[in-house]
Amino acid sequence: MYASFKSIGAYVPPQRLTNKDLEKMVDTSDEWIKQRTGIEERRIASKEQSTSDLAYEAAKVAIERSGLANEEIDAIVCATISPDYFCMPSTACVVADKLGISHVTAFDISAACSGFVYALNIAKAFVESGIKKNVLIIGAEKLTPFVDYEERTTCILFGDGAGAAVIGTTDKKEESVIDVHTSSDGSFQDFLITPGCGSKNPCSQNVIDERLHFMKMKGNETFKVAVNTLTKDVKNILEKNSMTSEDIDFFIPHQANFRIIDAVGKKLSFPTEKVVLTVAKYGNTSAASIPMAINDWYESGKLKSGDLMLLDTFGGGLTWGSSISYFAQK
Ligand code: UT7
Repeated sequence: MYASFKSIGAYVPPQRLTNKDLEKMVDTSDEWIKQRTGIEERRIASKEQSTSDLAYEAAKVAIERSGLANEEIDAIVCATISPDYFCMPSTACVVADKLGISHVTAFDISAACSGFVYALNIAKAFVESGIKKNVLIIGAEKLTPFVDYEERTTCILFGDGAGAAVIGTTDKKEESVIDVHTSSDGSFQDFLITPGCGSKNPCSQNVIDERLHFMKMKGNETFKVAVNTLTKDVKNILEKNSMTSEDIDFFIPHQANFRIIDAVGKKLSFPTEKVVLTVAKYGNTSAASIPMAINDWYESGKLKSGDLMLLDTFGGGLTWGSSISYFAQK
């Protein structure tokens, strides 16, 4: 039995935060943001919505499209760095409850923007070992509470959203998740970091006054490592599977910055029509970015059952990962 990418779903909150809106908040311009990042707007969850609400909406769609009943899901893995609650319960448990699924393996993973590919790796291992049959994997983020809207380099980048997929079984190689690679290098831990409110630097008035509870990024340094790592990772996974970029129908990278995607796409010789781009509409939604992009391409009619997807991601940790998988939604 192989693991199979049975369905995709996503949810984007309706409220938009445009570059023009940001011009009123920090010293920036629509032109600068577009030129340096390719981002035009991002979606913002409402005050009432938490990460589990976004995840629940995406999960409902993914389960419905898989043709399964909710109770046939036997594991839920939620990738997020913006969980509903700080220590517990996990967002996956809250989503399970919202879906009406009880007595199910449910847990969160923290791998920043690489979270969805990490979750896919876990699901593939669960399914192919026979431990689980149908794993719901989710990438969901309400990042905006952790964004410092006084810091122009980071606040222009991030948005909210969620994506989900059901990973089930198949006996056909041409419906399978062929390969998943995940990796990390903790020596770059300070490139993307939320310094405050963890056990190292517990929440206090001082932490809040110093704005240490917000995400910080060494943007320029991260940019360079991202381009090199993403490129190397794709080369490795293609080589390992005796494939070239010509075998791939769609290259679906993490949506952090158009310039990163463009540079990586060119280095790997992907023609522009094969490169999935949603960064202009949604900005960087961390773990949600890849499943949201897959869903966008599916709903626009470009991604079809049987297409071969190459996922490629990079984020805080530093973490990275890639996957070659058929899209097997019926
Ligand atoms: O999702 C996880 C992975 N994340 C990433 O891969 C993000 C990687 N990094 C990036 O996308 C880019 O580094 C940024 C978009 C964050 C920044 O772009 P950059 O081209 O690397 O700009 P920079 O940080 O080198 O700054 C260039 C200039 C600076 O001014 P000076 O020192 O040259 O006078 C900044 O102060 O641009 C200035 N700047 C801005 N200007 C207008 C920085 N942010 C802004 C802004 N508006 N929002």
